[in-house]
Formats: sequence, structure tokens, C-alpha cells
Amino acid sequence: MHILHVVGARPNFMKAAPVLRALALHPGVRQTLIHTGQHYDSAMSDVFFQQLQMPMPDCNLGVGSGTHAQQTAAVLTAIEPVLMERKPDIVLVYGDVNSTIAAALVCSKIGIRVAHVEAGLRSRDRSMPEEINRLVTDQLSDLLFSPSQDGNENLRAEGIDPGKIHLVGNVMIDTLVRLLPQAKKEFPVDPSCPYALVTLHRPSNVDDLPWLQEMLSTLSQLSERLHIIFPVHPRTRQRLGALGSSIAANGRLQLLDPLPYLSFLALQARAAMVITDSGGIQEETSYLHVPCLTVRENTERPITVSLGTNQLVGRDLEKLKQAARQILRTESEPAPRETSPGIPLWDGHASERIAEVILRR
Ligand code: UD1
Repeated sequence: MHILHVVGARPNFMKAAPVLRALALHPGVRQTLIHTGQHYDSAMSDVFFQQLQMPMPDCNLGVGSGTHAQQTAAVLTAIEPVLMERKPDIVLVYGDVNSTIAAALVCSKIGIRVAHVEAGLRSRDRSMPEEINRLVTDQLSDLLFSPSQDGNENLRAEGIDPGKIHLVGNVMIDTLVRLLPQAKKEFPVDPSCPYALVTLHRPSNVDDLPWLQEMLSTLSQLSERLHIIFPVHPRTRQRLGALGSSIAANGRLQLLDPLPYLSFLALQARAAMVITDSGGIQEETSYLHVPCLTVRENTERPITVSLGTNQLVGRDLEKLKQAARQILRTESEPAPRETSPGIPLWDGHASERIAEVILRR
């Protein structure tokens, strides 16, 4: 059986790595890995391939950045001949980035079966590009692997054949479970120096410059209470450039380049709190039992709020400050547990379940 995986952007790599590993254990499976090149900086791509011990891509389409139409169209055009030539039995696409929807669309038009890993997540906010990518990819997919029960319910409500839907758990947590011990060993953190870890990259947050400025001022105020470590995504770095010298970085608010997987995971595991607008980080902090404050009005991962440690603070910076103060007040309580069976099937074995379903079919 020939299985072809399509990845393109940073969060895809953590999801594809365990599925590639799980399938590699099965004799008779041949795998091909296509990188669309949506993310291309070494810090956003190569370093993840190394640290996650992924095979080198068989082919990099080099699509790069652009508007949504340009980027999606570039993947459509570049991937079609590759799929027609390589003729896989099934294509696996991951998450909700532009590369995901583009690959799924090409497969559905040329009659190649497509499986979506991380199916069924819904924020119900169609101003998010990822929500459009999720909706369309799920409609086009022949197999849908969901991380949590709410995903199954969303898919059924949209009329997807229940026979196609498989609740398998969270593949990103598979990678976390495998690499957490190594991350903690290689990147020890001084427990006497509490810190908040911050990431912000959503267009709704960082493309709105007055709002970005307000968020930075709030982070600067918080840094009077605890150290803040903020690895900055390239999109955010560009917007910060536009804000110029008014950025309030100081010794306690540290702006860094994007971090590799292992050092970022080690920092997450020991953080007093994480402030983010990322989807995957809401999940990782839930697993790690680290308090997470999400600077968004909604989440496609409601289970991280109901069973995990996530709080939505929306666009309310007073709420963010209050929630942060509350977390600091309870800080003297015992340290967070680092592994938890809290969310069903987030157990490090989701990719094995995916391999089993694919091979059974
Ligand atoms: C993309 C995904 C988003 C995901 C995020 C993770 C879509 C619609 N969005 O957003 O869901 O959470 O990746 O990082 O697919 N850039 C670089 N170097 C790179 C990549 C990008 O400098 O390696 C810069 C470019 O100027 C680019 C901008 O970052 O225009 C944004 O990149 P893009 O891939 O368009 O979207 P992300 O914001 O990264």
C-alpha cells in the first residue's frame, strides 16, 4: 500500500511525525512525504524535521508565502502532477492550514482517496481562514480522524457519513509524550525563576496594529510580576517591525526568534502560565496541566476548556491581567502534573489507531 503524506506548515510536522512512524512499522506499507514549502525558514521547518526525526521530504514544492489565493493556488498547481505521477492509494492531510485544503481538493478531483487527520474541529468563526480550511477539507475527505468526541458530533451534524469518522485521539500529544523526557533533559529550566510563555500569530491579533500595541503594553505590565518569554512568529515579527521603536521589550519581557520543538516544549512544561492564540498550544498545555490563557473569542478545541486548563480571555486585556494574577496567587500550590489521562484518547497512541484503521480498510 502506498501512503502519501502532505505537510506544509509548522504545526503539520508534529502531527505527521507520529503517523509516519506508526505506519513505518507495518510491512507492505510504502510512504511518500511531500512538503509544500508553505513554511520555509529553517526555524519554521528544517529544525522540526531534525528534532522530530522525520524522514526528509521526497519532494518540496517550494510554494512559499502569498495571499490565501496565491498560496492555495500554488499548492493546487504544484501538487497535482506529483500526485498523478506517484499514484498513491491514499493521501493523508493534517490540521487546517492552506496546504491541507489544497491537497484535499486536488485528491478529490483526480479520484485519490484522502484522509484528514484532526477532523471535525470547529470554532464556528468563519472569519478565521483555518475554519474555512477545516470545513472544506472535512467535506472532501474519505476518512476523518477526529481528536475528540466533539469533533465527531460536528461532523455528523454536517451530514458526514458516520462510517467515515474515526475517533482516534490527538496525534500532537503522541509527539509530546514521546519527546517530553528528552526535552526536559536537554533543556532544564531554573525552577526558582517563574515565567510566562507567550505566542501570538493569528492575523486577528497581530495584523491589527493598535491592538497588538495594547497587548504588548499589557505584557510589559505583567512583566513587572514575572518574567515573560515570547518567541516571535515571522508574521508577528513583521508587524512588530511596523510598530517600530514603541515596542516595550525590556529585560523581563524577552522577544526571541521562533524556538525549535524541544526547547519550546521544555519551556511550556515548566511555565507558570502560557498566553497564546495558537490551537495546538491550547492542547499541549491541557495535557501538561499548565494554565493557558487564550487571546481569542472562541476555540475549535472546546475540550481544552471543559477538561483541560484553557481559559478564553477574548479581546479583554483586563480579563487577561486578572486571570494571570489569579494564576500567580495559586502558584504556591503543588506543581502541575506533567502527564494526565484527563482527555480521553490523548494518550500517545492516536497514530497507532490511525495506522490500524487505514490498514484495515
Ligand atoms: C500558518 C497557518 C496557521 C498556522 C500557522 C502556524 C494558514 C491559513 N495559516 O499561518 O493556521 O497556525 O501557519 O505557524 O495556513 N513567513 C516567514 N517564514 C516562513 C513562513 C512564513 O517569514 O517560513 C512569513 C511570511 O511573510 C508570510 C507570513 O510569515 O507571509 C505568514 O505565513 P503563512 O504561511 O502565510 O501563514 P502563518 O501566519 O504562518
